[in-house]
Amino acid sequence: MRQYVYVSTAEQLAQDDIAAILESCQRNNLAHGVTGLLLYNGRNFLQLLEGERSNLEWVMRRIEHDSRHHGISRLYDEPVEARACPDWLMKRVALGDSGEARRERLEAELPEVLDPHLRRIILNFALLN
Ligand SMILES: Cc1cc2nc3c(=O)[nH]c(=O)nc-3n(C[C@H](O)[C@H](O)[C@H](O)COP(=O)(O)O)c2cc1C
Repeated sequence: MRQYVYVSTAEQLAQDDIAAILESCQRNNLAHGVTGLLLYNGRNFLQLLEGERSNLEWVMRRIEHDSRHHGISRLYDEPVEARACPDWLMKRVALGDSGEARRERLEAELPEVLDPHLRRIILNFALLN
């Protein structure tokens, strides 16, 4: 079992794009035993994906060819004993206005079992923009 994290920059997204992305996530990831979370701040995505490597690579190949975002940068690729998001599947965490408030809100919503380094990566995303 591994965890991957990447960040990317969204292309101009239509109203329905996020819903369509989440629908694909829920359908495909469930079928492949992939869990995690997706953050979107109106400009960038951060996605945590966890599962077996072959399944993660299957999902990443699709994500890398998606024209709704670009500049994918992988930040984290580590083995993990157990899932941090066993029943989250893909969730969107909407980020509010002030950076510190966003960080606090995200902190409260993140699973407690996350590796501290991974947790910092995710929380730093809340301060972008
Ligand atoms: C930021 C972002 C994250 C995505 N995450 C996933 C994902 O976790 N799983 C997935 O199947 N598709 C994800 N997608 C969508 C895929 O790129 C692709 O459109 C989808 O897998 C196509 O599958 P479908 O035709 O079965 O819906 C993501 C797209 C974007 C832009």
